[in-house]
Amino acid sequence: MRKLYIFDTTLRDGEQSLGITLNVKEKLAIGRQLVKLGVDIIEAGFPASSPGDFESVKTIAKELKGVTICGLTRAVQKDIDVCAEALKEAERPRIHTGIAVSPVHMAKKLNKTPQEVIETAVRAVKHAKKYVHDVEFYAEDASRSERDFLVDIITKVIDAGATVVNIPDTVGYSTPWQYGDLIAHLVNNVRNIDRAIISIHCHNDLGMATANSLAGIRAGASQLEGTINGIGERAGNTSLEEVIMAIYSQKALYGVDVNINTREIAATSRLVSRITGVAVPNHKAIVGANAFMHASGIHQDGVLKQRDTYEIIDPEVVGFPRSMIVLSARSGRHALKYRLEELGYNNIEDSLDEIYARFLNLADLKGEVFDEDLHALMGNAGKEVNGMSIKQLSVTSHGAANAAATITLEVNGELYSDAACGDGPVDALFKAVDRIVGKPVQLEDFALKSVSRGSEAMGDATVKIRYKNSLVVGRGVSTDIFEASALAYVNALSKTRYLD
Ligand code: KIV
Ligand code: ZN
Repeated sequence: MRKLYIFDTTLRDGEQSLGITLNVKEKLAIGRQLVKLGVDIIEAGFPASSPGDFESVKTIAKELKGVTICGLTRAVQKDIDVCAEALKEAERPRIHTGIAVSPVHMAKKLNKTPQEVIETAVRAVKHAKKYVHDVEFYAEDASRSERDFLVDIITKVIDAGATVVNIPDTVGYSTPWQYGDLIAHLVNNVRNIDRAIISIHCHNDLGMATANSLAGIRAGASQLEGTINGIGERAGNTSLEEVIMAIYSQKALYGVDVNINTREIAATSRLVSRITGVAVPNHKAIVGANAFMHASGIHQDGVLKQRDTYEIIDPEVVGFPRSMIVLSARSGRHALKYRLEELGYNNIEDSLDEIYARFLNLADLKGEVFDEDLHALMGNAGKEVNGMSIKQLSVTSHGAANAAATITLEVNGELYSDAACGDGPVDALFKAVDRIVGKPVQLEDFALKSVSRGSEAMGDATVKIRYKNSLVVGRGVSTDIFEASALAYVNALSKTRYLD
């Protein structure tokens, strides 16, 4: 069995999703969890793209050990210099440089001849080699390139020193048989391919990223690129968890070994969703809330008789609990802690009293407390408020266009109250908060959903605001939907301090 290297690009390609901007602290938190998951390479960002990205890559390179830290560049000397600087303190640095290779990209985007593209690529790899041994070359839009040209450029960048060659299906255009055939073609026709690892990088525009990646692995690729929950440009990247578990389920089919701590998958997925504000659909393979739920009587009967009648993966293997413990106000601290640890919340000893007090409030309101409620409870607990908390709020509404709100905020120990009218109660609340906080932000998006069952379900609000040209996401959870909305808004406002 050959080793399949897992290359996580949640912090780079994943962050390119519409509406996601992560600050250094958030990226580091995700990076730490990726180390726990056991990925081999973390692509931490594109350092030349912004000072914020430079800082994130630099911090991650300094803080995370035992894993390769990679930075993306264009095939441009300045990008490579900046990337090398950001990676300076990495234990295992990798520069990921490259250029587009399809006819349409070369002619229309780059305005370069194929020969010029080859020269630029070789120059970039050689330049990156001056800084690091480990240089990955990406041939952007490889799946729409001409094969002879692709073989030629890949051969030349390997001669120039590339240790990994990335063959992206940049626009998610391939089918599994085309993509597998492309990788096999490179295995058979690039004369020096034994000196480099072939990497696969697929996008999900036609919903085939997982299938294409598996086809690429069967054909000989030894590095898989993707993101947690499949986030990324447009329809996203390959979901790492899907490919990993497909291999886990039928290892013999793929002939590769993956060194991943699968029990951390659920916790990683939740963390990425919580920090990015991108919800995981309930029906999402492997990590969706319903991925291991059985609804129909026939299925339930089958699973109770023998789990594998309808379950191809033991939920515990990916970090979901198998047993359903129903918590209520009668449950003690110990049961709550046990359940939270099963759900992946560790090291909660110090805050257990405070969590338990909020849990009892919730249990009094709801009767039974489900796993979704606990995630919401914990999501809220971890939110930064930068010295801001909501002390009181009230809303009145006489038709959508005639609403008013009052709110009292504690800001750095001082109480401030204000009121505002608005087009609906949420608008009035946000305006009242604005009058207190006084920051020039623009509301870009607001979404509210229920995160558990019953009429006492928790409301989970997500707010996206624009501040100094950056999007900032905030989340709030409460049984009161107005409080959830205000919490999300205050949470987003508190994060704008990273941009000041
Ligand atoms: O999809 C793509 O081609 C990429 C490259 C920059 C690696 O993300
Ligand atoms: Zn990509």
